[in-house]
Amino acid sequence: MQTLLITGGAGFIGANFVHHMLETYGDRYTLVVYDKLTYAGNLDNLRDVAKAPNYHFVRGDICDADRVTRAIEDYGVDTVINFAAETHVDRSIMDPSAFLRTNVMGTYTLLEAARRHGKLRFHQISTDEVYGHIAGDHKSVEGDPLSPRSPYAASKASADLMVNAYHITHGLPVTISRGANNIGPYQYPEKVVPLFITNALQGRPLPIYGDGRQMRDYQYVRDHCEGIDIVLHDGVIGEAYNIATGTEMENLQMVEILLDELGADRSLMQFVEDRAGHDRRYSLDVSKLAALGWEPRYSCEEAIRATVRWYVDNDWWWRKVRDEAFDSYYERQYGARKVLTEAEG
Ligand code: NAD
Ligand code: TYD
Repeated sequence: MQTLLITGGAGFIGANFVHHMLETYGDRYTLVVYDKLTYAGNLDNLRDVAKAPNYHFVRGDICDADRVTRAIEDYGVDTVINFAAETHVDRSIMDPSAFLRTNVMGTYTLLEAARRHGKLRFHQISTDEVYGHIAGDHKSVEGDPLSPRSPYAASKASADLMVNAYHITHGLPVTISRGANNIGPYQYPEKVVPLFITNALQGRPLPIYGDGRQMRDYQYVRDHCEGIDIVLHDGVIGEAYNIATGTEMENLQMVEILLDELGADRSLMQFVEDRAGHDRRYSLDVSKLAALGWEPRYSCEEAIRATVRWYVDNDWWWRKVRDEAFDSYYERQYGARKVLTEAEG
């Protein structure tokens, strides 16, 4: 492993991964970010590293086979790490076509390029959502059946299956990691934690879906990046690894911690009509990755508090991102959404 093609590296987790690699390894690896710069891609996320001599940026679509091939050949790429995706469940409910294109066809295009270039090392960034809603007190292990329930999750599960197929059929050296809900610096504020922080900072209500008792494992993004690093270096080829804190909390608890860290009032909480097909609980067993020596540094609560502090300290970043396009998305997503009375919530 020498030259890494980091697709989607201008997005939230990909950019944090680039920071992690440069801070951890200095100039040991050449990092080539390959990104289409959709609404979620943002070169401000990479502003701090733009001058590093071993960092390069290529604007391109992962569905564009010629462009992918050129990037691989121009830089002598030997490892592909695929972060590029359409990532927001609510958008996948409104319009799934971009999810199928990028998450399924885009992953296939990268796999095919990796195969044609002499079986490059391939790491797929996946999600806990591929396991679907987890009932009772079960925790998902990597061998559990995939049972996705949203168009986003279905597109990510399809990609996982294709990655696996390329390993079995063509001997491509692949690994997959399945992360929980990441939070931290540079997350586009459509996702719940940065949405609620930036709404609260503007005195706007926080739209809590349904009863707010859905459970998520809110994981600090840098812990996720360390986990990916370990899987890349020490993971067994052909295997998948869960990455999470291994604990969950209800959304209501997340909101209370977030408001407490901001010193903001609970009257900002507003219960609204639920998301269609909303998964009540995700829960990952992380013992397989822990056996490789990984452990998270942040609990869910510490991750939420650290994330709040980053947005408070970096309003230059999120005020630019909450632009006209964001406002128009917000209006489409929340404008006509029913506000629930106490009896309905
Ligand atoms: P993000 O939405 O912040 O960023 C996605 C990036 O991919 C953007 O830079 C975008 O420009 C780029 N992109 C989108 N379509 C592209 C295309 N066709 N070609 C090239 N680039 C394209 O996403 P994120 O939250 O950083 O998620 C990164 C990966 O991690 C995704 O694969 C996602 O499924 C997975 N994941 C995310 C979470 C989470 O909580 N955010 C949790 C687990 C797994
Ligand atoms: P989200 O950040 O969209 O991640 P995911 O659905 O992929 O887990 O949502 C996290 C949780 O927060 C999920 O249970 C849905 C809920 N949620 C709200 O209550 N209100 C919102 O405005 C959003 C975006 C999410």
